[in-house]
Amino acid sequence: MKHEALKAAARSMLERAYCPYSHFPVGAALECEDGTVYTGCNVENAAYPAGICAERSAISHAVAEGHTRFRRIVIAGKSEDFCVPCGMCRQVMREFAPDLEIICLNGAGEEKAFTLEQLLPHSFGPEFLSNN
Ligand code: THU
Repeated sequence: MKHEALKAAARSMLERAYCPYSHFPVGAALECEDGTVYTGCNVENAAYPAGICAERSAISHAVAEGHTRFRRIVIAGKSEDFCVPCGMCRQVMREFAPDLEIICLNGAGEEKAFTLEQLLPHSFGPEFLSNN
């Protein structure tokens, strides 16, 4: 998918975000290695820790549809700051896509790109468990 279209898909998910507690909507669009795109949004809960971020929502969506190899993710927020992924999401990305390209958008639609390696250096992954 074209870069602008992937950004638009992430931004459109801001409307689906369920965030009555934080009032901080986040949308995500995840591009799989075969070009398929899955979207996600944050889904909060009255029992706060039960909430899920937009990124993990998109990844779960893709995995449930049979995809485990990812190329790019766009994360859209509405605030001035670029919406960077939380630590837990970084680790979940690492499981499936150590070379993932991460594009973070702010409310003005500006973007900042990172590699997962930049955001989660010296990371722990599935291969660490295969020697046991
Ligand atoms: N959130 C995300 O969905 N993704 C991020 O990258 C940062 C934070 C959500 C979690 C929670 O619903 C709200 O934003 C405030 O933390």
